[in-house]
Amino acid sequence: MCGIFGCIMKEGNAAPIIHASLKRLEYRGYDSVGIATIQDGTIYMKKDQGKIDDVHRCIDLDDLPGNVGIGHTRWATHGAPLKVNAHPHTDCSGQIAVVHNGIIENFSELKLELENRGHIFLSKTDTEIIAHLIEETLKQNPTLSLADAVLDAVKKLDGSYAIAVISAKEPDKIICARNESPLVLGVSDNAVYCASDIPAFLPLTNKAVFVNNGELVILSPAGYEIRKIQDSSVAAREPKIIDWTPEMAVKQGYPYFMIKEIHEQPATLRNTLRIQEHYLDLISTFLDRAQEVFLVACGTSYHACLAASYMFSKLAFLPTYPVFASEFVEQHGKSVSIDSTILAISQSGETADTLSAVNSAQQRAATILGLTNTIGSTLTRISRVYIGQQSGPEIGVAATKTFTSQLSVLAQLALRLSKKRGKVSQDEMDYLAEKLEKLPDIVDTIIQSQEEKVKQIANKYKDAKIFFFLGRGISTATAFEGRLKLMEIAYVPSIAFPAGESKHGPISLIEAGFPVVFICPRDGPHKTLIGNIMEMKARGASIIAVVEEGDEEVKALSDDYVEVPKGVPEVLSPIPFAVPLQLLAYYMALERGYNPDTPRNLAKSVTVK
Ligand code: F6R
Repeated sequence: MCGIFGCIMKEGNAAPIIHASLKRLEYRGYDSVGIATIQDGTIYMKKDQGKIDDVHRCIDLDDLPGNVGIGHTRWATHGAPLKVNAHPHTDCSGQIAVVHNGIIENFSELKLELENRGHIFLSKTDTEIIAHLIEETLKQNPTLSLADAVLDAVKKLDGSYAIAVISAKEPDKIICARNESPLVLGVSDNAVYCASDIPAFLPLTNKAVFVNNGELVILSPAGYEIRKIQDSSVAAREPKIIDWTPEMAVKQGYPYFMIKEIHEQPATLRNTLRIQEHYLDLISTFLDRAQEVFLVACGTSYHACLAASYMFSKLAFLPTYPVFASEFVEQHGKSVSIDSTILAISQSGETADTLSAVNSAQQRAATILGLTNTIGSTLTRISRVYIGQQSGPEIGVAATKTFTSQLSVLAQLALRLSKKRGKVSQDEMDYLAEKLEKLPDIVDTIIQSQEEKVKQIANKYKDAKIFFFLGRGISTATAFEGRLKLMEIAYVPSIAFPAGESKHGPISLIEAGFPVVFICPRDGPHKTLIGNIMEMKARGASIIAVVEEGDEEVKALSDDYVEVPKGVPEVLSPIPFAVPLQLLAYYMALERGYNPDTPRNLAKSVTVK
């Protein structure tokens, strides 16, 4: 997730406007920033790594000439957060500049093709190919307009994008295009704007035009023209008046970041399916060769480790050891050696306990692998190989979208490893890969169809003094995550156990009306789990089940249930089954009068550079 912005002013300098608008988009990404403007047929550009204010102090982002320009605030996915990878990116001649938010899946193939045609690339980004593609199109067809060249170029792109392009040859235009990544226009008397999000231009105008997937826009001093990428036909669209406050706009109309980020999960899961194969291959090769593998993390990321240990075991027949980072040195510090591999998982890449576990293992010559959401974080600097989960910044303190993204990446790693080791048949691999592709839609369905029901459940149980979360197999990890969310956001004391363990002690707590949440995918342990539900029910517990659609047996035993669409394989089940639990924590917090974005005593780790 990055922020893009562009503007054409009727009079005045564009750069200070772009700078101020990027600042309002910084919640979309903040590891590097850049602006390009045009004056007298020349493109002027400033960019660097770092937060906008720090970069501005060094290179004065306002000091660029011209009334037309584009800008970008970055959250790295391809290439480290370095100046060379900061947007805008240009073609070989420096006459075309592009900013981009999204992920181009086929960039390696396109880059190779363009390199074979003599194009020289400076960065490691997927974006740079767009500038060269447009340059190449214009080279082949010199009579094409910039708009037609962009149209031609974007037809070759697979993946997600919102782009804004300027060219020294057509200095009074910005061409933008959209597929999946957000893009919205702003219209005022003095200017037209394009941006990733409304907050960018909200202080300048409240007239917005939403650009749809598969559309291209020509911005000019005369206004905007929207065309369909497929057939170039023109789409007429009037601006809408936006009555959001700036604060509402940043949250896209949602009351809290947590719920906004829960709702973002279909999109963030889609992004995880665009991870470069090359990194999945590299990490799975290291895992394959390892003598012993520790999965090390804290909090929610630890729950991803726990789920991953089931995935690696079931799919790749690889035993792995999930360990709380804070316990790692005490538990395994002395036995770790050159033969050990540590896969550290950290959304921020900066959690102190995770880093100290990793540092201590590294001192004993262990191989360090990383999975993180923050390219450029300490974890990426320490790791031999790392993989970015591509979820975009998470602003709510509670990890939500980053958890499901971690699981999706880990499932892909387990599948790779399985293929390498020849452990699962081709048919099964294809089946699982297909199911993984469907998860974004499944999560979308859950949010659309079950949110209201979860709200009612939260209302019913809002005064509960304690909650139980139980699951078997991989759902143990889901239960642990449900408990953590409810405790940290709604302050309800909660207990989670593998359901089988619940009869070895925890069951003694049960009395009439005690809420017990069961995570019930239709997997191997389903039958045994039904036994656990009956044990709890017999003692008067109120059963809240997260069930697969059509699971009449569990539904009949439940006081309340939430449904997940059919057909999610067991190893992937924590992804959809965690979502109702995130919603439960969120609505319980609201019911109990708490702000879910600011849980007491907790803060998110941020990158220290
Ligand atoms: C829970 C939560 C925390 C983090 C934990 C690890 O909602 O956000 O438990 O998961 O602090 O953080 P990272 O993944 O950044 O290492």
